[in-house]
Amino acid sequence: QNCQNLRGRRILITAAGTREAIDPVRYIGNRSSGKMGYALAGAAAGRGAEVILISGPANLPAPPGVSITRVETAAQMQAAVLAEFDTVDIVIKAAAVADYRPELVADQKIKKTGNTLTINLVKNPDILFELGQRKKQQILVGFAAETKDLMIHAREKLTKKNLDMIVANDITLPGAGFNIDTNIVKIIHKDGAVEELPQLSKQQVAEILLDKISTLLTKST
Ligand code: PMT
Repeated sequence: QNCQNLRGRRILITAAGTREAIDPVRYIGNRSSGKMGYALAGAAAGRGAEVILISGPANLPAPPGVSITRVETAAQMQAAVLAEFDTVDIVIKAAAVADYRPELVADQKIKKTGNTLTINLVKNPDILFELGQRKKQQILVGFAAETKDLMIHAREKLTKKNLDMIVANDITLPGAGFNIDTNIVKIIHKDGAVEELPQLSKQQVAEILLDKISTLLTKST
């Protein structure tokens, strides 16, 4: 696994969840720990790639040899990703990006007054969709975390976001998904081919995914 088949390639990886502020104390977040994205970043660096890791809040150290930019919100992740996009060969979006954010961020802590509290949410930019629109030579890989109709939703995202591959994880399965060391994924290719992987460590999933990406790169150059 120690081959240097990504030497000379620049790869952008996003990891962890974004946080969208409600007030100075609270935020809307999700359960992504960053483990999947950091495993990919470490594995890509091990293969000689120049790795740019753009991470939401995570309790993980940057893997050796990886340049890391830490962000909090989807808007910050969008800006950081777009700043690098033109210079990279590969993008893997393992981050769980909040689809919505509070319309207004209260500048003071919201007090416990009424029995109910309504927070209006507005749509965040879809970063990967935007990359799909802009892409030239880049290989674009997305993730899809689903609780039902995994393949239908994942295929929809693959097409809509103009991806080369999507990694579908059914997060209802024990051993798959958020905040654990293993994952169970299906890799769906642009041409419709599907590869089903058994439960593997996130490092092993990362290596297999990078093998597929290296194959695509050798085909396209
Ligand atoms: O971090 P871990 O704890 O290890 O968990 C890993 C994981 C389960 C978070 C990861 O494997 C995973 O599945 N990440 C994607 C989570 C997800 O729900 O994605 P999505 O279906 O909302 O989005 C599909 C794709 O579009 C993703 O590549 C996402 O990064 C991207 N996206 C989504 C919304 C948005 N506004 N902008 C985006 O770029």
